[in-house]
Amino acid sequence: MKRIPLQQLLDLTGKAAIVTGGARGIGLAISHRLAEAGAHVMIADIDGPEAQKAAQALQANGWTVEAITCDVSQESDVKRMVQTCQETFGSVSILINNAGIFPPAPIADMTVDEFDKVMAVNTRSVFMATKYAAEMMKSEGGGKIINITSIDALRPSLVGLAHYDASKHGVWGFTKNAALELAPHNIWVNAVAPGGIQTPGVEAMQPDGQPNTSIETFMARIPMHRMGEPDEIGKVVLFLASDMSSYMTGEQIVVDGGALLI
Ligand SMILES: NC(=O)c1ccc[n+]([C@@H]2O[C@H](COP(=O)([O-])OP(=O)(O)OC[C@H]3O[C@@H](n4cnc5c(N)ncnc54)[C@H](O)[C@@H]3O)[C@@H](O)[C@H]2O)c1
Repeated sequence: MKRIPLQQLLDLTGKAAIVTGGARGIGLAISHRLAEAGAHVMIADIDGPEAQKAAQALQANGWTVEAITCDVSQESDVKRMVQTCQETFGSVSILINNAGIFPPAPIADMTVDEFDKVMAVNTRSVFMATKYAAEMMKSEGGGKIINITSIDALRPSLVGLAHYDASKHGVWGFTKNAALELAPHNIWVNAVAPGGIQTPGVEAMQPDGQPNTSIETFMARIPMHRMGEPDEIGKVVLFLASDMSSYMTGEQIVVDGGALLI
């Protein structure tokens, strides 16, 4: 195998990336790092105006970033997202499945519709985006798919997230089997499992009155004694999107300040 010089290892020039939920929080930080590394980035978010704002802010650095309004729980939107990336940038080399929701509710109060919505946005979306993007990647000789799971894919963090934990365990299982199926096509499929990261979504989380539901309770258990920053996920995603991780597939990298140690 050709030895790539250090300066080129993180270079994504000529690659086209889709980042779902890229308008804010972790997705925005990932979009920033991928664009900085030279990728052309398509921010796909259900909040169209926020996605446009995010794209414009990154374009101000001279980077190629576009926005598309997309509800990842809708198959027609996901199909259009992949097609638009191909038409706009000429390929789909990197797919970041990041969009996700985490509305807390105890099981007794959780409705079937709420459970289904969490599964559709967090898990079914990953299947649909992988299905359409992988077909493009196969015809282009390969690609990278990175799924943002959670430490909740391994162990619960807070009471009131049973639907969320089911959805993230599902994404982790899907990641491993997709990696198995797609490796012969040079498509690497990995996951990043964040712990507590300071984002608008987490700031908006309302405790539901049950014990062990608040972010403060969770934070008190983090060995590093702080929440993570979105860029601390963005940097690890860049590692997985680059040649730095050339022999890794079907893996999940935990980025949690040590939270799973205790
Ligand atoms: N922040 C954390 O502590 C944390 C921890 C573990 C895992 N995660 C995961 O990281 C991902 C991002 O989380 P975040 O904290 O940045 O969230 P966030 O709420 O701050 O941002 C999520 C983004 O996704 C978009 N989005 C929501 N539903 C969508 C849909 N149906 N279609 C397209 N876009 C949609 C939102 O508009 C928003 O821009 C999620 O998958 C989440 O589960 C976050």
